[in-house]
Amino acid sequence: MSELIEKIKSSEGSPKILKNLYSEEEINRFLNLYKILPTTVHNKKQNVIKKRWLQGYDKILEKLFCERLKNEIGNFKMDNLQTEDGKDIFGLIQESHSPIGLHVDSGFNIKNQIYKQTLIPLTPVGSTVIFKNRFYGNSTSFTLDPNELKKKDLGYGQNKRSSEHLELYGKKPFDKKIHEKYLSHEKIENLAGLEVEFIYEWELGSMLIFDRTHLHASSSNIQGKKIGIATFTKK
Ligand SMILES: [Fe+2]
Repeated sequence: MSELIEKIKSSEGSPKILKNLYSEEEINRFLNLYKILPTTVHNKKQNVIKKRWLQGYDKILEKLFCERLKNEIGNFKMDNLQTEDGKDIFGLIQESHSPIGLHVDSGFNIKNQIYKQTLIPLTPVGSTVIFKNRFYGNSTSFTLDPNELKKKDLGYGQNKRSSEHLELYGKKPFDKKIHEKYLSHEKIENLAGLEVEFIYEWELGSMLIFDRTHLHASSSNIQGKKIGIATFTKK
């Protein structure tokens, strides 16, 4: 195993939920930030809006976020993509009407010592499924869909598509009950070999922190739309 993977593993731990980390007023501040940020992607077919949390739109919120995260995970650097003019992006805010499939957010630079990622819900209903299984490569969407697997001309910051997870974690069929309850948007065959570590039930004011090596997916339980902010750190 490479030295870098050893280092990444040494800072791994269990997913953690911080309840009541943000007040109602602060959540409204995040929602307002979401409103004023420019739209990066609006996929009308999938009904998804993605916005980058750009620096400078709400400096108080940036400071608050970093201070509270540092209290929990110690020293970190933001591991983010940059804007066209070279500014760091704090994270991604996504508004979706349909659940996101199985993936890992391990980043786009294999040389980085990736660390923790966070999720802050800005709407009350939703859940996120974290699997025990981990991946030590770049950000990937795991799928069996041949049309997805064909996609090779990926843009900056887009996950590669792969089905290699099916070779990595064994072929044990996925739990039928959990599939039905939380992951009906995924083909059960695509979840072979996976085991659930933890299911995060969204709650306003709370924040989820978990290792960037965990495979995860949103659950199929969405009422209308959901909005969440994801951020990514490295050492
Ligand atoms: Fe993710």
